Amino acid sequence: MKKYKIPYLPLKKITAMHRGEIHKTVSQTIDEGWYIRGKMVSKFENNYARYIGSAYCVGCGNGLDALTLIFRAYKELGRLKDDDEVIVPANTYIASILSITENHLKPVLVDPYYSSLELDDFLAEKAITKKTKAILLVHLYGRCAMSEPIAELCKKHNLLLIEDNAQAQGCTYYDKRTGNLGDASAHSFYPGKNLGALGDAGAITTNDKKLADMIRALGNYGSNKKYVFPFKGKNSRLDEIQAAVLNMKLKYLDKENNYRRKIANYYIEHICNPNISLSFDPIADNVYHIFPIFCDKRDELKKYLEENGVETMIHYPIPPHKQNCYKELANLDLPITEQIHQTELSIPCNQTMTTEDAKYIVNVINRFHIG
Ligand SMILES: Cc1ncc(COP(=O)(O)O)c(C=O)c1O
Repeated sequence: MKKYKIPYLPLKKITAMHRGEIHKTVSQTIDEGWYIRGKMVSKFENNYARYIGSAYCVGCGNGLDALTLIFRAYKELGRLKDDDEVIVPANTYIASILSITENHLKPVLVDPYYSSLELDDFLAEKAITKKTKAILLVHLYGRCAMSEPIAELCKKHNLLLIEDNAQAQGCTYYDKRTGNLGDASAHSFYPGKNLGALGDAGAITTNDKKLADMIRALGNYGSNKKYVFPFKGKNSRLDEIQAAVLNMKLKYLDKENNYRRKIANYYIEHICNPNISLSFDPIADNVYHIFPIFCDKRDELKKYLEENGVETMIHYPIPPHKQNCYKELANLDLPITEQIHQTELSIPCNQTMTTEDAKYIVNVINRFHIG
């Protein structure tokens, strides 16, 4: 077999695909001489709101801040208070949980369905108490986690529906995009995301003007008027240079997501190793931020793929409730989440790959045998 080297996510190559346009827009922005809260940020906020289908978009420093600002704004608006409970899938990146505890709210971790890796609505309903005030729905790995039962739960129990859309830019649910399915949504533009900046960046989308105004103030030291501070806010603002890069890359997002789908569909059709499962049924709207495969001998498989030139990642090796910072959650009974974390392996799936790369990866995976 030809000696291949396939990186997991070659950011340098991804940026190089748009090198000319990035250099042009960044140079123009530098020459404008205005670097925070200027024309580029407004332009991106308008374009991204239009893309998502929401009335408002507020740029901020990163995805964790976007989530944290949403909960904080609901507290300032009197919709949430200390110790209120927020239902959240246990199999998520730690930022989802941090945004809840940072606001003195209580995360109620719920296992996902193994068949879809999405929040189990049956378990979610069982976890609802008088203190439950919101569901934080995470569109993990690029796959929409919304469902009719989740919408009904929110309606029946008067819960806020907040989306963590950090991993699913461009994903759709019927005729809407993720990021516009609930009350508010957080977006991350970390460089490795499907829409990635050249540094940290994030945004909030919502159709609620009061919420958008509050978030904008809270991310600007708590001020909506220069040198007047009604709230104890923080500094979390999208900067002009990142906004310029995002504006430029947004034009290519759908095309690049379609390319990811092409690679993913090739995997789905051709990976046929009985020791490996793909876990979920393919759905058309998945934007495949991550393509996970599952194997009881995950670490052996990772080593074998590396020896054969295929770089992989694990999303994630330790679930949030087993992290030292959340000792109080350590005894929760979350068997599906733990199984996912013990068996998951992410294989390369991005717009820089060729079909030859995908073929090579499939061949290597299908030859893997245990023991
Ligand atoms: C599901 C999820 N939520 C939130 C975040 C936080 O985003 P950021 O890295 O921009 O703070 C991430 C980032 O990886 C994520 O994957």
